This record gives sequence, C-alpha cells and structure tokens, in this order.
Amino acid sequence: MNQGTCLQDLPVDLKPERLPHHVAVIMDGNGRWAKDRGLPRIMGHRRGVEALKDLLRCCRDWGIEALTAYAFSSENWGRPQEEVNFLMTLFERVLRQELREMMAEDVQIRFAGNLNSLPLSLQAEIKHSMEMTRQNQGIKFTVATNYGGRQEIIQACQAIATQVQKGLLKPEEINEAIFEKYLYTAGISHPDLLIRTSGEMRISNFLLWQIAYSEIYVTETFWPDFNRPEFHRALYAYQQRERRFGKI
Ligand code: FPP
Repeated sequence: MNQGTCLQDLPVDLKPERLPHHVAVIMDGNGRWAKDRGLPRIMGHRRGVEALKDLLRCCRDWGIEALTAYAFSSENWGRPQEEVNFLMTLFERVLRQELREMMAEDVQIRFAGNLNSLPLSLQAEIKHSMEMTRQNQGIKFTVATNYGGRQEIIQACQAIATQVQKGLLKPEEINEAIFEKYLYTAGISHPDLLIRTSGEMRISNFLLWQIAYSEIYVTETFWPDFNRPEFHRALYAYQQRERRFGKI
C-alpha cells in the first residue's frame, strides 16, 4: 500500500467515539474520471485502486473496524469484454502485490459475491489471500466481487431451504440472526455509513439487507479523486446525523 498519504491522527473535529464501525463504498466514476482527462477508462480503474488502498489505510489509521468496497457487480459482466478482462486481471494482480502489505498491516481480507464464476486464477488468488489473512486481527476488508444483493438474498434462502429440507431447521425458527448467517457478510457488522461517489443517488443492488439502517453519503467527486479530505468530510457529515433506527 502507498505509504504516507493518510495522517495517522484522527482530525480534531471528528469524535472518535462517534466514528462508524463499518464503512461501505460504492466506488463510482472511474470511467468518467478517465474520460474527463482524455484517457482510456482502464486508467480510471487503475487510479481507483490507489484511492481504495489509501482509504483502507485511512480507515485503519483512524480506528474504523471494517471497510467493504463494491469492486464488481453481477451486472458488470455486461461491460465491453476488454474492460471486464482488464478488471479481472487488475484484481488478481493487486491481490498478489498487496498480500505482503496486508499481512504487515494485519488486514483481514474477505470477498462477498458469487466467486465461482470468476476466472480460476483469480479464484485461486482470492482463496490464498483469505486463508493467509484469516487470523489477522486488524481491519476487516471485504471486497464485493461479482456481487449482487438480490442474488445474495436468494442464495441465502436456498441454503436455508436446504437446511429445512434436511430437517435441521424448522421454518418457524428462521429469524434475522439466522438469516444473516447465510449472507456473504456473516460475522461482520452492518455498515453504519455507505458512501457513493460520482453523485448518483442509487444503491445499485449493493448490500440490500445490510444497509437497512445505514447512513448514506453521496459526493459528486469521482472515485479516483476520493481522498483523505473527502473521507474526512463524509465522516464529519455522518457525525452530524442523528441515527434513530426507526425510533423517535
Ligand atoms: C465504477 O466506475 C468502478 C468499477 C466498476 C470498478 C471498481 C474497481 C476498482 C476501483 C478496483 C478495485 C480493486 C480491487 C483489487 C478491489 P465506473 O467504471 O462505473 O465509472 P463510470 O460510471 O464513470 O463509467
């Protein structure tokens, strides 16, 4: 990871006791960032990786326990084949290159999504990085890859139905806590703050179950330009919100 782009210290106007435990990001605008500069779209994705690495470091420095990033949606296969191939290769290369750093920084990496249809070499890299970092006690970093929220809910329903069919679970025993155990994000708290870049006011099938009570922050900034001051602004805005969870 890129050293030194984030300050170790939490900015003084942020209250450590009111930081989100878990931040989720929809990293949008890589293509437009590149287009604005007359560059090919893939350059936006390259710069997007740098922004993500910096954000992960920032979260760790400022004491945020979990970060989840939407890297590739189940709908993204519909992009030009060349771009899809580039992204798959990029994910694989970044994982390989960053593993040592993640170990040094105690990051626990996980993946959310239907991983079986990813290229086999990427699946192998994913498996390796998860196994290597499983015992790490630092920030929990989840990369949503070939992820779709509806599909996640359906696969959870199928797994639960199988348990019922086998007689291991009664329908009336199914509750929210049990349901969550079948989601890709089992064992990780729900995001407190969801950030979307590039100004779009959409959820785009991301963490549909998990964001039920998340605070949403949208910035016009394109993802490659989402830096520490931007994150500071998002956290400041979050701390001004009153979270009521449906109560008054
Ligand atoms: C959205 O911008 C971005 C993506 C679909 C890819 C995001 C991936 C990364 C930043 C790389 C992450 C890497 C790892 C290893 C996790 P867009 O292409 O939709 O931009 P546009 O809306 O301007 O076209």
